[in-house]
This record gives sequence, structure tokens and C-alpha cells, in this order.
Amino acid sequence: MTTTEDPTRFWDDHYRTPRAEPGANVRLTEIAADRPPGTALDLGCGAGGDTLWLARRGWRVTAADISGVAIARLAGRAEALGLGDRVTAERHDLAETFPAGRFDFVSAHYLHTSFALPRARVLRRAAQALSPGGRLLVVDHGSVAPWSWNQDPDVRFPSPREVALTLALDPGGWAVERADVLPRRATGPGGRTAEVVDHLLLIRRTA
Ligand SMILES: C[S@@+](CC[C@H](N)C(=O)[O-])C[C@H]1O[C@@H](n2cnc3c(N)ncnc32)[C@H](O)[C@@H]1O
Repeated sequence: MTTTEDPTRFWDDHYRTPRAEPGANVRLTEIAADRPPGTALDLGCGAGGDTLWLARRGWRVTAADISGVAIARLAGRAEALGLGDRVTAERHDLAETFPAGRFDFVSAHYLHTSFALPRARVLRRAAQALSPGGRLLVVDHGSVAPWSWNQDPDVRFPSPREVALTLALDPGGWAVERADVLPRRATGPGGRTAEVVDHLLLIRRTA
């Protein structure tokens, strides 16, 4: 579904309401917990829970989002936490621009939007931005939470393997390490909980 509203305004409005410090996504913490810190890129960082989690563990993180409101708040939060030297927060509409640099770890966590976004192109670019040996983590929703804005009964979630295929990566340079469908107990508004599904794709740059 796409809307005629402006995506920057939509996401700025979404992040304008002040919130408590965001937590990190559990899939990110599972994948990154045992890895030595290096350079990381958080695509569609939103409130920045993943960025701050990584920075606290010594990663130097570039955080990118279309929302200037989210980016400014994350930069301020990182400064206040003494992590300012480890976090570079940049506004990008990933349909148009992409952060510069090479990264040991790129995470695209729930990079979903109701606006047009060339996700395959963005994720392919992300895979190309990896240093040799680096990993791209893509975590997508695999089910509709009862509190989701999108209750379309016909919504279809591409499997992690299907997402990997859309990237059209050369098997000589990138390898799929994991393509998993994982259940998770999620907590929504008002503390309500429900079983949801995550689609996890982990790709390693081999050359
Ligand atoms: C569902 S939220 C996920 C946020 C965060 N990664 C998380 O796990 O909580 C999707 C994020 O993608 C961002 N986004 C949407 N379209 C974008 C675009 N074209 N370029 C960059 N970021 C975009 C939104 O601002 C939002 O922060």
C-alpha cells in the first residue's frame, strides 16, 4: 500500500512525541552479542534503541533514517549518554541517498513503510557496503500483530529466502548464513502481549 502523504512528514510526526529511551531489538542483540565491535550501520534506525545498544558495546555506529526528528533526538541522546563519539546520526531518504563508508555489520530492522521504498535496491546497496567478512542482518515482520496499523487480511510477508533472492547477490561474494522464521512473544500498547513471527536473514560478505 502507498499513500499520497509525504513520508518524511509522516515519520517525523510519528517520532515527535517524546518517549522513554528505546530498547534494542531482541534479534539484533542475539546476533551481535558475541561479535567483536567494529563499524556498524543501522538502516531505518528510528528511535535508535539498536544504535545505542551497539554503541554501548564499543561499536562505531552510523544511524540513518528518513525522519530528521528521530535523527536529531538520537544524536542528542547519544551525546547525553556519553556515546556521541561513537554515533553518527544522518538523515537519509534511502530511496535517494545512502550513508558513505564500509561496515562490519549492517542492520535493517523492520524497515517497513507504507510509502514506496525500493527495499531490494537499498538492501543490495547495504550488502555492497559490507567489509569482507561483514554481515547484513535483515529482520522483517512475518505476521501481523493484533495492534498493528495494517490489519489487511491479504497481506503477504516474503520469506527470508525470497528477500535474499531479491538482492540478486553474486554467490561468489556473499553467502546466506541464516534464513529463519522465528516466533516471538511481543509486547504492544498498554502492555498487551501476543505471539508474532520474525523473518530473519543473515548474509555474510565472503570476498
Ligand atoms: C517500522 S520502523 C522501524 C524502526 C527501528 N528500526 C526499529 O526496529 O524500531 C521503520 C523505520 O524506517 C524509517 N524509514 C521509512 N522509510 C524510510 C526511507 N525512505 N529512508 C530511510 N528511513 C526510512 C522510518 O522512519 C522508521 O524509523
